[in-house]
This record gives sequence, C-alpha cells and structure tokens, in this order.
Amino acid sequence: MNLAIIGTGYVGLTTGTCFAEVGHNVVCVDNNAAKVESLRQGKMPIYEPDLEDLIVSNVSAGRLEFTTDLASAVKKCDIVFIAVPTPPNEDGSVDLSYIEAVSHEIADVLKPEYGYRIVVDKSTVPVSTGSKVSQVIERYAAPGVEVDVVSNPEFLREGSAVGDLMNPDRVVIGADSQRAMDMMKRVYQPFNAPIVEVDLHSAELIKHAANSFLALKISYINAVSAVCEKAGADVELVAKGIGMDKRISRHFLNAGLGYGGSCFPKDVKGFIHISEQLGAPLELLKEVERINAGQMERFLERVREKLWVLRNKKVAVWGLAFKQNTDDVRESVAIKIIKRLCEEGAIVSAYDPKARETAARDLQGYELTYCDDMYECTRDAEVLIVATEWKQFANANLMKVRELMHLPIIFDGRNIIHGENAVHAGFEYHSIGRKSLYPSRD
Ligand code: NAD
Ligand code: UGA
Repeated sequence: MNLAIIGTGYVGLTTGTCFAEVGHNVVCVDNNAAKVESLRQGKMPIYEPDLEDLIVSNVSAGRLEFTTDLASAVKKCDIVFIAVPTPPNEDGSVDLSYIEAVSHEIADVLKPEYGYRIVVDKSTVPVSTGSKVSQVIERYAAPGVEVDVVSNPEFLREGSAVGDLMNPDRVVIGADSQRAMDMMKRVYQPFNAPIVEVDLHSAELIKHAANSFLALKISYINAVSAVCEKAGADVELVAKGIGMDKRISRHFLNAGLGYGGSCFPKDVKGFIHISEQLGAPLELLKEVERINAGQMERFLERVREKLWVLRNKKVAVWGLAFKQNTDDVRESVAIKIIKRLCEEGAIVSAYDPKARETAARDLQGYELTYCDDMYECTRDAEVLIVATEWKQFANANLMKVRELMHLPIIFDGRNIIHGENAVHAGFEYHSIGRKSLYPSRD
C-alpha cells in the first residue's frame, strides 16, 4: 500500500520505516527541511537501536523516502498518518495546533480525482479530536472529496521502538466506517498482531487510559518504596512478590526516580484535564503526579543529608536520557536532578552514552562537565548518582570506580547496581526502597 506519514520524529520515523520493512511504500514528510535533508543523506536525527540499518535497507529497496512536500505525498498515498507533536499547554491541556495545521494542509491539497483517502491520527490526542479533524477536512477540502478519519494510537517505547512496532501486543484501530477499518487492517496484516477494532473515540481514549495506567503502576511502586524505606523492607522483593500474580505482572513495577519522557508526564496531565472538561475528574491521577514529583525530592533530600552541604561538593551523575537506549532528554529526571545540584552549588560531572548533545541543549546556562567516559566522570567525586537505567552502569567495574572517587558513596536512583558488589568494592550503597548498605569496618 502507499502510505504517507506526516511528522518524522520518534514515532513517524520509526513507524514509517517499519511499514516499509513489511513491504509498504512509504513517504515520510516533515516540515523541518534540515531533518529531511540529513535523512536523505543517511544521517539519523535521533538515536534508536536498530533503526538506522532498517532505514538504509528500505531506502535502497525504494520503499522509503523523505520529503518536505506534503502535497505530493497526499496525492500519491491512499492513507495519510499524522504523527506530529501534541505538547502540553501551560494549564495541562493538549496543544492541538500541530494537528490542526496538518489537517488543514491535507484538506487544502485533497481533490476528488485522487480518490478515497484515509487520514489517520497516530499522535496522542484527547478524545473527540478525530471529529475535529473531520470537521476541518469537510470545511476546507474541495467539494466531492471522499475521506474517512481514523484513530490508530501508537504504543511504542523509545529505546525499543523497532521491536515494539514489529511485534506489537495489539494494534488499536478506531474507525466509524467499515471501508476505512478494512483498509487499515490490510496495513497491519503483515504484522500478525491482534487487532482491537473499536469506534474512533474509544481508540483515542484507550491511548490516554493506557499511558496513565502505566504511570499509575510506576507511582504505586514508588509510593510503596517510600514505605519500604521506613519499614526496612526491600521494594525489589515486594515487586517480585506481587508481580508474580499474573493479574498484577512484574512489568512497570521498577521503583526509581519517577517517570519522565515526552509522554507519561504530558499524557497524565492531559488525561486529568480531559476528564475535568468532561465533568468526570480523575482525581486519582493527581496523586500519581504528586508521588512522581516527590520521588525525586526524597532522593535529593537523602543525598543532601549524606553530603550535608552540596555547595562545592563534587557530584558525578551517570545518565542524562529519560531512560536507557535513547538520546531523548525530554522531561528527563536526570536533567532535573542536575539542574537542582547546579543551583545548589555542586560541581557536577555527567556521562551518558547517547544523550550528551541533546542534554547540553537542555542544560544551556548550567555549568557542568560532560565526560566521554563513564569512569572519568567519577574522578575525585564525593558521590556517584545513577540517574538513568543504562545497562552499562549495572555492569560497571566498581573497583575501578572506587579507585577514582574521592569518597566511596553511591546513590543508585534506578536500583540497577548490585548492592553487595558495591559494598565489596568498598562503597556505601544507597538505593530506592531498600536498606542502605555499608562496607564492614574490619
Ligand atoms: P517528535 O517531536 O519527535 O516528532 C514530531 C515531528 O513532527 C518533528 O520532526 C516535527 O518537525 C514534525 N512536524 C511538526 N509539525 C509539522 C508539520 N506541520 N508538517 C510536517 N511535520 C511536522 O514527536 P514524537 O515523539 O514522534 O511524538 C509524536 C506524537 O506521537 C505525539 O502525540 C506523542 O505523544 C505520540 N507518541 C509518542 C511516542 C514516543 O515514544 N515518542 C510514543 C507513542 C505516541
Ligand atoms: C511510554 C509507554 O511505555 C509507551 O507504551 C507509549 O507508547 C509511550 O510512552 C508514549 O506514549 O509516548 P516511553 O516514554 O518511551 O514509553 O518509555 P517507558 O519505557 O514507558 O519509560 C517511561 C519512564 O518511566 C522512564 O522515565 C522510565 O525510567 C520510567 N519507568 C518505566 C520507571 O520508572 N519504572 C518502570 O518500571 C518503567
């Protein structure tokens, strides 16, 4: 099938590439000319494991192309996916101006002679947005144009986007027309995934409800981690014990510094706002947000207590990205922690395998040292903070780190370092929801 994807970001680029990989002809459109040009030259605008090879092979197979020309993409493609940003407004509501702009652009170029078209919303949007998109197309498209609007929310995770897209747990398609539903099912047929066929508005709501539920799970285990710290229990054992119940499951029960990223924070806020607007306020989600913010504060307070005064203390931070396997730092808790440390006068050095450049843009105006090597980052430090769950931090040579640091203190905000190993290497080891461990004095 001929598919156009408008918006070539984390979602648009990976989705478009995976559609090409299963045999569709895909045109990825973006209004950022520099991004399109660099993709044409084979340069990746983002880091996402396995994506680059797939792009190269599908471009050379002639199934994937990049352009700024939305009009020609809409002309030649039966289905047009919208994957542009839906950032939060100041009041937590969703900024739909990108969706509106693209809908208008699509409407302006549609002509009856092109034949039937489907416009698919892949961005995360409030329930009822699809009706508004239909309205825009009806208002501005030439008379006689035949279009259906569909909702097809995306559930990929950054860092494992290719695997998530090629092997989805389910594909949600929300359509109010059988013709559109049948064509959408053909798009996904090669993926061999269960398809959830629903109406347009239910599909839109599924996405906000899913992300909010996952955020709720994380906040739940983080709230339990605070209880564990007071009680002297171990949150990892608690997560294991409750997670073995299939009704609960162990997934997304990793206690830590709280959730970050471009989606959970904005989508929880967005869902709260939507529910209030609809007169059915989801108060529960306000507590989810409160716990999430509190998790970082509790952690910082423990670091402060340990170092007493942060001013002029040398702090090494491992991790800048909002999670492992990505260069994305949007709403990264690691970045928030670094900002706070700098504001309180600490001397910060930081290391991340992929997010150094994106972080430096976000941290403009903050004075810190970016290191090329995770061990160098710890030289002379008085504390090491692990802020992102990269695997290489879990596998670090702690003896080497101990030799480099000035004081032997680790604060593991992601519970990924083996505590006993840290103690064996001579460290005091502090983590989330577990007893602190100290080297023996003999
Ligand atoms: P992104 O910022 O990485 O990419 C968006 C792209 O759209 C950018 O390249 C931008 O230049 C382009 N764009 C903006 N306006 C345009 C226009 N008028 N015409 C053409 N291109 C335009 O965003 P993202 O992370 O890919 O997220 C996109 C949507 O998908 C959001 O609604 C998000 O909530 C949702 N989503 C994101 C993820 C994720 O993991 N990032 C997962 C699922 C859903
Ligand atoms: C999340 C969802 O998992 C995707 O299904 C969804 O498509 C996407 O949001 C979206 O709508 O954009 P993503 O934000 O890429 O994906 O990454 P996650 O793996 O969900 O992690 C989000 C945050 O939660 C990270 O900061 C991570 O460190 C944190 N997290 C995750 C925890 O603290 N504990 C966990 O158990 C899991």
